[in-house]
Amino acid sequence: MKRTAVLFLLPNLWIGCLALECTTVSGRLKQVDAGNGHVFGVCPKGEIFTLYGSSLIRLPGQLKHVSVGPAGVWGVNSTNNIHKLVKGDWVAVPGLMRQVDAGGKMFAAGVNMGSVVFCLGEEATTGYAGPGSRASWTQLPGKLRYYSCGPYSCWGVNAADEIYIMKGVTPTACGGSLDLEHISGSLAMIEVSTDGQVYGVNSLGDIYKREGVSPCNPAGTEWRHVQHSEKVKHLSYDLGHLWLINRENRILDCTE
Ligand SMILES: *[C@@H]1O[C@H](CO)[C@@H](O)[C@H](O)[C@H]1NC(C)=O
Repeated sequence: MKRTAVLFLLPNLWIGCLALECTTVSGRLKQVDAGNGHVFGVCPKGEIFTLYGSSLIRLPGQLKHVSVGPAGVWGVNSTNNIHKLVKGDWVAVPGLMRQVDAGGKMFAAGVNMGSVVFCLGEEATTGYAGPGSRASWTQLPGKLRYYSCGPYSCWGVNAADEIYIMKGVTPTACGGSLDLEHISGSLAMIEVSTDGQVYGVNSLGDIYKREGVSPCNPAGTEWRHVQHSEKVKHLSYDLGHLWLINRENRILDCTE
């Protein structure tokens, strides 16, 4: 009898410790990105917002995906044109991308419509000021549908939800080892935070965190399922907060 009671109690305690505590941010977004202390996102119709106080403030323009990090604020619009926020305005950047990421150490990266992966070195990334600036993207090996960079590695997923890591990325060598290494598991999207934490969402809407990630072990050790009461379609982590977008485009600000 006593033994049964203990067995029932343990799982509850375990879930209780790891469940997320969330508050809702008013408004609707289809995608959110948090990095370098900022939070940006886009609405289903493409309007762009940033969090200021507890309100979402609208920026000019329209994008389908936005990213903020050490590389600045970058995004792509519905026709896959790349843009960078310069002096409060979106300036077009040469190239076409389906998704760009500003999380690398002062470098931008992204994937195009054919799932080809690219990165832009620190000098071109930080120095890009609009037409006339140089922006020559470096093509990386492999095909990925989503690519996100952090301080020492980039992670991506391909069309089959397979997960890959590119180690050894630096401001001057944004391509890193140029060798995508396969990581077990299955995720639909993945995000690396400014401090190197790795979170992802699988096709069922479940949240996972990569445990044991460090500069000495960029690939980490295992995936941990992060308990949450509802399914999500997008997430981003920064400074202790996990930002979630659920299937109804509601925005949740969560801590563990
Ligand atoms: C996307 O951006 C390009 C370059 O700024 C612009 O010419 C184009 O009109 C934009 N497309 C849409 C659908 O807004």
